Amino acid sequence: GRARPHGIMVPMDTSTVITNLKGAVTSDPARPWAVDFIEDAAIAARGGTVQWIGPRRDLPAAFSGAKTVDGRGRWASPGFVDPHTHLLFGGDRSHEFNKRLHGVTYAQLAAEGGGIRETVRATRAATVPELVALGEERLRSYRRKGVLHLEAKTGYGLELEAEGRLLEAYAQLRARGWSLDVTLMPAHDLPPEFTGEADRYIAEVAGAWQPELVRRHPGVASFCDVFVEKGVFTASQGRAILESGRRLGLKPRIHADEFCSTGGAELSAAVGASSADHLMFASDAGIRAMAEAGVTPTLLPATTLFLGMKDYAPARKMIAEGCRIALASDFNPGSCACIDPLLVLRLGCLQLRLTFEEAFTAMTLHAARSLDRPDLGHLHPGAGARVLLWDVKHPLDLVYWMGEAFLPEVQDSMN
Ligand code: NIG
Ligand code: FE
Repeated sequence: GRARPHGIMVPMDTSTVITNLKGAVTSDPARPWAVDFIEDAAIAARGGTVQWIGPRRDLPAAFSGAKTVDGRGRWASPGFVDPHTHLLFGGDRSHEFNKRLHGVTYAQLAAEGGGIRETVRATRAATVPELVALGEERLRSYRRKGVLHLEAKTGYGLELEAEGRLLEAYAQLRARGWSLDVTLMPAHDLPPEFTGEADRYIAEVAGAWQPELVRRHPGVASFCDVFVEKGVFTASQGRAILESGRRLGLKPRIHADEFCSTGGAELSAAVGASSADHLMFASDAGIRAMAEAGVTPTLLPATTLFLGMKDYAPARKMIAEGCRIALASDFNPGSCACIDPLLVLRLGCLQLRLTFEEAFTAMTLHAARSLDRPDLGHLHPGAGARVLLWDVKHPLDLVYWMGEAFLPEVQDSMN
């Protein structure tokens, strides 16, 4: 068969038990923020699905004849789920990064025709095979670091054909076995062809591009997204994009309240979005509305760091209001050129002031929830048998030994 991308692959299509583990750490779909640290654990799987998890001494007799995988004293965890990436783009913006260090702001770069527009030029110039090759390289990096499923957006084409090439590249990556959910995002910025005509662009995307792209690439995208921000799109323009997407079967996600509050959090609640992302400046009313509507706030602390901003999203307030937050990378060339799930976990603890249990759950169970994937982000019965094996004394070491680039062994059937 085809070469597997990385890691030790153990087929779990007959009964298999991972044993000799130091422990297993997992969130529990039945308890919103609870994390169980099960010492001397065993995990039994059949047909690619977890059947049982618990202390090894309690392993049901039904699995006594199963094939065993030696956990070699490691800690098992579910794979990380990354619910916000801009996986496919051409070029990079390292020169802009240094301009920012010299004092030019992200907004100024954009106003000068750089920023997203620069990446749009490079992405429009890329062929589908080039995009697929870039995507595979990045997906291998994610996987090596423990991210086994991710959401990936279009949004650097900003014209019908280029957005279509991004969808085609995502479809090809999926056909190669990569575990992806795709989000259609032509309203990521105003393309140069529509300068000064945001309303006309929104009408074109909602009325023509979204339906045409869904017709040309059926089943590829399952979400839609829009950048609601001062100087980009207003909440009412965002609503038009998300409502037209919804009519086509695309579930709304939204880039909201990243640099100031323009009602993005409120909009996410009003349209029943699966997630609202960034939210550094979400209003109190917006936070309450998200909690009530069951929107998953998806926080991107590596972006706050990369942008050199001091205001991290108000995660504690969101949890106090009853939100189930997720954490994500936001990997993109302008505001977070970073594939590092452990950095996100660490920033979650140290800057968003989450407990380890909260940050871990936000990177697994709640991330999967925002993607409507009840089979991901945990290791309870019914979960996909997609397991990371960490060579650590305890899962807390992943945060505590802050500078250590731990790489898990990946036990995954690449589904
Ligand atoms: O999520 N905020 C909008 N989009 C990206 C940044 C895109 C870019 O700078 O290329 C983000 O941060
Ligand atoms: Fe983003």
